[in-house]
Amino acid sequence: MMNALDSAPWLLRHGDCIDVLKEIPDASIDLVYLDPPFNSGSERRGRTGLHFADRFGDIAAYRAFLAPRLQELFRVLRPTGSILVHVDWHTSHHVRLMLDEIFGSENFVNHLIWSYGLGGSGPRSFARKHDDIFLYGRTDDYWFQPPMVPARSARLRGRMKKATDVLDIASINNMAFERTGWPTQKPIALLNMLVRACCAPGGTVLDPTCGSGTTLVAAVNAQRRALGIDISAAALAIATSRLEGSAALNATADSMPRAVRSARRDRQGPEPLAQSA
Ligand SMILES: C[S@@+](CC[C@H](N)C(=O)[O-])C[C@H]1O[C@@H](n2cnc3c(N)ncnc32)[C@H](O)[C@@H]1O
Repeated sequence: MMNALDSAPWLLRHGDCIDVLKEIPDASIDLVYLDPPFNSGSERRGRTGLHFADRFGDIAAYRAFLAPRLQELFRVLRPTGSILVHVDWHTSHHVRLMLDEIFGSENFVNHLIWSYGLGGSGPRSFARKHDDIFLYGRTDDYWFQPPMVPARSARLRGRMKKATDVLDIASINNMAFERTGWPTQKPIALLNMLVRACCAPGGTVLDPTCGSGTTLVAAVNAQRRALGIDISAAALAIATSRLEGSAALNATADSMPRAVRSARRDRQGPEPLAQSA
């Protein structure tokens, strides 16, 4: 499988990632971004009817799903590699402990907060407006290049500064150009930043639950190789279309299918992030 990435910038595989991961050699991947089901207890459904199941029953079942996959991801990472695991309040407290056990608490690097803004609020709690992204190095020798964002304080106005661990990036609204219809699609601005920060140019990025392929598009656009896996053929059809669309960016917007238009938008690179100085 990895040989195929010598001659092509990206590769998609259909199936349960636990099976496909077993085909990946030890220490061959530079960055894993894992955005698994969150155990929300519901069917995640997009506006166009696309869907995937996000029900595991109890937390023990969720942990039993995740643990062997995290073990495989640990195995396939290079010593200079790292992993980003994207979850939310449903499971983040469990997942952090699992990562400590599998990757070693000494290899914890960051608990990133993706602050996204959109969504509703309830009468009996603070509005939930963030996801949790854990960054662990495979060893202490992990590769990292701090992303720079525009400073907002009066003192630093007009200058760039290193991003903090709070990433203030809008989620994809219903009218967004990049929206593909896949439920829980992440914004390309988020993945553009993460991929560039955590994988050196020319490296290989693996997304074992890639959905609509956002990570892979970000990787290819940043001259990294991309390997995606998903259990849903519908998700992979969208990811394929987005990745192939990158080659059709000179077509006129009117004649482009939606996924190609998304790819054009995907190519625009990292948007400046709003961060407090
Ligand atoms: C949160 S979504 C990923 C969304 C993606 N980051 C994007 O931007 O479109 C989780 C994905 O995990 C996939 N999935 C669930 N169980 C899986 C498994 N065992 N192996 C591979 N993919 C799986 C689902 O089909 C879904 O696409």
